[in-house]
Amino acid sequence: MSRGRRWAAGAAIALGALIVAGGLWLRSARGFSADAKPTALEAWLAGLARHLALPSGVNQARDPVPPTAANLEAASRHFAAHCALCHNNNGDGKTMLGRNLYPQPPDLRGAGTQHKSDGALFYSIRNGIRMSGMPAWPDDSPEEIWALVTLIRHLPQQTAAERAAMKPYNPKTIFKEPVM
Ligand code: HEC
Repeated sequence: MSRGRRWAAGAAIALGALIVAGGLWLRSARGFSADAKPTALEAWLAGLARHLALPSGVNQARDPVPPTAANLEAASRHFAAHCALCHNNNGDGKTMLGRNLYPQPPDLRGAGTQHKSDGALFYSIRNGIRMSGMPAWPDDSPEEIWALVTLIRHLPQQTAAERAAMKPYNPKTIFKEPVM
């Protein structure tokens, strides 16, 4: 082995040991339960990783679906059927599943989501978010996904009537306790 290679192998072993030690420390300090909230540092690192992982050009894409009543209605049904289990019909994420995920879904009406570009929201829905509860939706057409982005932009102004109209499309469970 050359000197350079030996050095690289040593560095890789040291880094691995550091990661294992960090994991063990985290486990003893906080446990690995998903029933907790990420620390500010963890949330910041995860946000940075997501930002860096966005392919260039994604932020330039604009949502082509206009917020007409018909488009919002179709997207609301879709959202009620596939997304509300975690995100809730109003997007606040306060459902039985959403509350207990790590990380929890953000309030989609809040600045953290609304300040993201159309393209970034499309990308998160189409591809999901790795190492989180957010699944990818590769079988939804681009038009359907853009309509969901249009709905997410509309959530801050969603009316009680619009929310009520989503309920019949929410998945049914055997539990009597209402989830949504
Ligand atoms: C099984 C739970 C689950 C389902 C179902 C789900 N999501 Fe998510 N979603 C999450 C979680 C958890 C996050 C946060 C991930 C993170 O912060 O790393 C998230 C994040 C997102 C984001 C990114 C928000 C932001 O501020 O960056 C969007 C957009 C989103 N979801 C839309 C949807 C849509 C639309 C659907 C349905 C087609 C859906 N989600 C279905 C759990 C879910």
